[in-house]
Amino acid sequence: MESQFDTVVSAYESSMEEMPFRKHVEAYSFLNAVGDVAGRNVLDLGCGSGLYTRRLRSAGAARAVGMDESAAMVEHAQRREEREGLGVEYLAANAADPAAGDLPDIAGSFDVVTAVYVLPYASSRKALEGFCATARRAMRATGGRFVAAVLNPEFSTDPQWYRGYGMLLSSQESPAEGTPGHLRAWVGPEVLDLDFFRWSAAAHEEALRAAGFDRISWIRPTVSDEGRTRYGEAFWANYLDCPHALIIDAHVGPEAVLDSRARPAEDTSATPHQ
Ligand SMILES: C[S@@+](CC[C@H](N)C(=O)[O-])C[C@H]1O[C@@H](n2cnc3c(N)ncnc32)[C@H](O)[C@@H]1O
Repeated sequence: MESQFDTVVSAYESSMEEMPFRKHVEAYSFLNAVGDVAGRNVLDLGCGSGLYTRRLRSAGAARAVGMDESAAMVEHAQRREEREGLGVEYLAANAADPAAGDLPDIAGSFDVVTAVYVLPYASSRKALEGFCATARRAMRATGGRFVAAVLNPEFSTDPQWYRGYGMLLSSQESPAEGTPGHLRAWVGPEVLDLDFFRWSAAAHEEALRAAGFDRISWIRPTVSDEGRTRYGEAFWANYLDCPHALIIDAHVGPEAVLDSRARPAEDTSATPHQ
């Protein structure tokens, strides 16, 4: 399927190294929220170039599968897999279509499903619900966790707010669900321009509950010690005050599968906050 991501593969691949915020805030916070995946089966929706899928496999996942609708992203990830032989599987599919969760070798197979910056590309409530339904259908019948990094519903529209982190986010001031927005990101010499959609906390939670997730928490990102030491506290102040993304940790099933391993109590709340 053609996607706005087809032309940004190399920028995306280098963004983890080029953007300090990705490494020291996003990856640090997200992987902490996911916790120990050793021996678990993990599905990474909207895996892009496979940045997180590879990390999860290297962290001991028994099976790590990346799913993305961008043929260019999946081809790139597969080429890397051929070179590196980590044992990661990739497939091209539209994860907003719940049928993706019913695919052979996907349905009922996973303990943990992840999605980093994928739900903001849901252009309709149906698509938002579709991502959540795919996550649920891909999970074991007994339950599992869906850990997703999403756009903070209350992100700052002050054009300078995230400039120091290499990003500019804009969107109309509108209370309507699914309001279009735009992200410009500077990754080394490249400029990424991506269109997204804004969803409220309630819309995310409704979509998750419709798919069967019944324990939902929102986690604020934090900065790694290395990031604080290297860039200083002042550098991160704007971001931590109003992060552009939050993490959702949604559970389904009688027992929590894999509790987060390093989530400070004060970072978890039932509702997102700036
Ligand atoms: C912002 S990128 C994030 C990539 C990766 N998760 C990361 O953090 O490096 C979003 C990815 O989601 C994928 N995506 C968007 N909508 C999708 C859909 N309906 N089904 C599958 N993938 C989708 C895009 O192709 C893109 O690779």
